[in-house]
Amino acid sequence: MKALVIYESLTGNTRTASYEMAGRLAAAGVPTEVSSITSIDLQALSEADVVIVGSWTDGIFFFGQRPGRASRIAKKLPRIDGKRAVVFCTYALDCGPTLEKLERIVGHAGGDVLGGYSIRRDDLAGGSQELVDRLLGVLQAS
Ligand SMILES: Cc1cc2nc3c(=O)[nH]c(=O)nc-3n(C[C@H](O)[C@H](O)[C@H](O)COP(=O)(O)O)c2cc1C
Repeated sequence: MKALVIYESLTGNTRTASYEMAGRLAAAGVPTEVSSITSIDLQALSEADVVIVGSWTDGIFFFGQRPGRASRIAKKLPRIDGKRAVVFCTYALDCGPTLEKLERIVGHAGGDVLGGYSIRRDDLAGGSQELVDRLLGVLQAS
C-alpha cells in the first residue's frame, strides 16, 4: 500500500498539512510521497494505491467558497482511474461547499472518492492526524 498527496497551496498551509499527512501515513506503514499540483511525480502517482488531493478554500469567507485555483487543479490532475482517493481543504472560518467541488474534480479524473475532510488552518497538525486516522480505518476495513 502506497499513497500520494497532491496539493494546491497559496500561502503554505495546505502544503504543511500534506507533509503532516505523509509523515503520519509513513509512520503507520504506508509510504507516501507529496507533490504540488504543478509538478506531480508521475512515478509515485502510478505506484499509489490511494491519492489524497488537497486545496485551500477560496471565497468571500462565508459565500462562494470553492477550491483555490480549482480550474488549474482540474487541468493539471492526471487520470487516476480506479484509484481510491480522498479530498481535503484547509480554511479559515467556513469552507462551504469546497470539499464537494473538489470531490467532483477528482471524480472527473476517475478517482474513486472515499470521502473528504476539512482542516481549520489553526489546527493543521490535528486535522491532518484526524484525516489519516479515518483513512487508515477505512483502508483496514476494506
Ligand atoms: C483569496 C483568499 C480567499 C479566501 N477565502 C476564504 C473563504 O471564503 N473561507 C475561508 O474559510 N477561508 C478563506 N481563505 C483562507 C484560506 O483558505 C486558508 O488560509 C488556507 O489555509 C490557505 O491555504 P494555503 O496556505 O495552502 O494557501 C481565503 C484565503 C485567501 C488568500
